[in-house]
Amino acid sequence: MDKLQQDYPWTKPPLISCGPMRLIALSQLATAVSSAGGLGFLGAGSDVSTLASELDRVKDLAAKDPTLRKVKDVLPIGVGFLLWAGDDLLQATLPILKEYTPAAIWFFAPSTPQQLQRWTEGCRRATSNTSKIWIQVGTVADAVSATKTCNPDVLVIQGSDAGGHGLMKSAGLISLLPEVSNALQDLCTTHPDITKPTLIATGGITESRGAAAALALGAEGICMGTRFLATPEANIKRGYRNAVLAAKDGGVSTARGHLYDTLRGTTSWPERYGGRGVLNQSWRDAEKGMRFEENKKKYESAEREGEDQGWGEEGRMTTYAGVGVGLIREVKPAAEVVEEVREGCRKVLGRLGKL
Ligand SMILES: Cc1cc2nc3c(=O)[nH]c(=O)nc-3n(C[C@H](O)[C@H](O)[C@H](O)COP(=O)(O)O)c2cc1C
Repeated sequence: MDKLQQDYPWTKPPLISCGPMRLIALSQLATAVSSAGGLGFLGAGSDVSTLASELDRVKDLAAKDPTLRKVKDVLPIGVGFLLWAGDDLLQATLPILKEYTPAAIWFFAPSTPQQLQRWTEGCRRATSNTSKIWIQVGTVADAVSATKTCNPDVLVIQGSDAGGHGLMKSAGLISLLPEVSNALQDLCTTHPDITKPTLIATGGITESRGAAAALALGAEGICMGTRFLATPEANIKRGYRNAVLAAKDGGVSTARGHLYDTLRGTTSWPERYGGRGVLNQSWRDAEKGMRFEENKKKYESAEREGEDQGWGEEGRMTTYAGVGVGLIREVKPAAEVVEEVREGCRKVLGRLGKL
């Protein structure tokens, strides 16, 4: 049995997980992914005011699932945090983690390496080393540094195609993942006290062919964010979901930058991170030189338009999504997405095995 199945015994290989999308991946999505034999992450992000109640909902949902019901020592999902939010968030988080002991805890976007270390040590202590530590990184240097300082169980390697936030300067998975793998191998050879973390690939994977490619690069599992936006369990507005379904050719129809954050007022992200979303009227107006104040006014009026209006290429609402949008054609339950990608991936690999 491989390490992932040992650590998350309800899961099936290859491990499929959903990214901890703040405000979007809540109890419903996270539990649906785990129920289908994956590992669902709940996005706590930078605010834990509703975390305990969401985790209670996970408990209730898991109790109704014949497989998850049998998992006793951990809550069978993960929880993700945005570390730039600071040490106050850490202090508010630790008692909750101690009480619920999620199977995995995910860190992203620290302001400093020391912050990553403090969170790792704090969470390991709070959960008596039970919750596994996952760290999402987007460069070889960050992967090596996080491994040296934290010895994480898992590194999530985020390629530049990823939806939502990621590094402004980063590489696609196809070169990033093998280079990270080599660098970690070298690190572990020179430092025998360090164990090579399990690698999970993320960024631009939406279906089985991409998943199989990621495994070929050296990943042992995959994580998707954008694909799960087109599931009924994702907590998003209908207009957002429709904009994801409508977008094609993501290299042209999406881009990463700071504009969407500044329009929304989510400006605490470290400078090196930007959000990738579907290009829309706000983006085009900014490119044409519209003053920010005017652009923001128009954004705020689009915000008042409700569930359906204001989204898409002609709209103004922020539609964080990755380069893989063009491969997403329909809304499907999260469990179907997990099973389809997992089984499809096994078929692709089986076919390649015959070469
Ligand atoms: C709408 C959206 C919100 C996201 N929010 C978070 C977040 O709060 N924390 C986090 O660590 N990653 C977040 N991510 C990034 C994911 O963890 C992951 O890197 C990304 O979804 C992978 O690329 P993909 O979208 O092409 O699958 C988000 C992604 C999306 C699409």
